[in-house]
Amino acid sequence: DPHDVPVLCIDGPTASGKGTLADQVAQRLGYAVLDSGALYRATALAAQCAGVSLQDEERLASLAATLPLHFDGGRCFLDDEDVTDALRAEAVGQGASTVAALPKVRQALHQLQLSFRRVPGLVADGRDMGTAIFPDSELKVFLTASAAKRAERRHKQLMEKGFSANITGLLRDLEERDARDKNRSASPLKPAQDARLLDNSDLDIEASVNQVLTWWSEGRPFP
Ligand code: DC
Repeated sequence: DPHDVPVLCIDGPTASGKGTLADQVAQRLGYAVLDSGALYRATALAAQCAGVSLQDEERLASLAATLPLHFDGGRCFLDDEDVTDALRAEAVGQGASTVAALPKVRQALHQLQLSFRRVPGLVADGRDMGTAIFPDSELKVFLTASAAKRAERRHKQLMEKGFSANITGLLRDLEERDARDKNRSASPLKPAQDARLLDNSDLDIEASVNQVLTWWSEGRPFP
């Protein structure tokens, strides 16, 4: 029964460091990772490639339902094409946020997300992992950081990947994206009622990982 497989949810706004935290926690626990944002990003990218409008809910939902997406060795493929880097582009992130507001797209990706729940366990990273996809999960972390800190981190990340960017523009983009993710009616970004809040504005990654692992072991007295 998949409900017996432990799931640890990490939700939060863009550039809060969810991805890095999820990867490292999963590595320490020997669990798999679901990067649910990648599914919305892949839908936006597939739409862009197929010339499908980001307003066309029906066609976007059918693209999402049949995404030829697979993960292999930390890389992400659409058909045979390695789209790992393409998925990270700012424009694709904005497109993902737009398609993610459409209920039929969210519905089309629901089952695919559940299929990542396999033994020995899963760390799920997204916006609605704790509220909508895995409401029975035993630990839901809601990760936040100030917008300024997040813009700074995103800037650093983009520069390292050789993309150009300016902080003011990034800050504006991420505030726009936060607003859209929070204010949509389909599974808006918000902490689950039983979520633990973690503000990592002044924490390094090691301290955040340790906090999450401490909560995880507290909730599971018999490992
Ligand atoms: O986490 P990310 O930046 O890769 O996510 C990209 C967009 O996808 C984000 O702006 C909102 C959407 N998203 C979502 O609506 N639900 C999720 N579980 C994950 C991402």
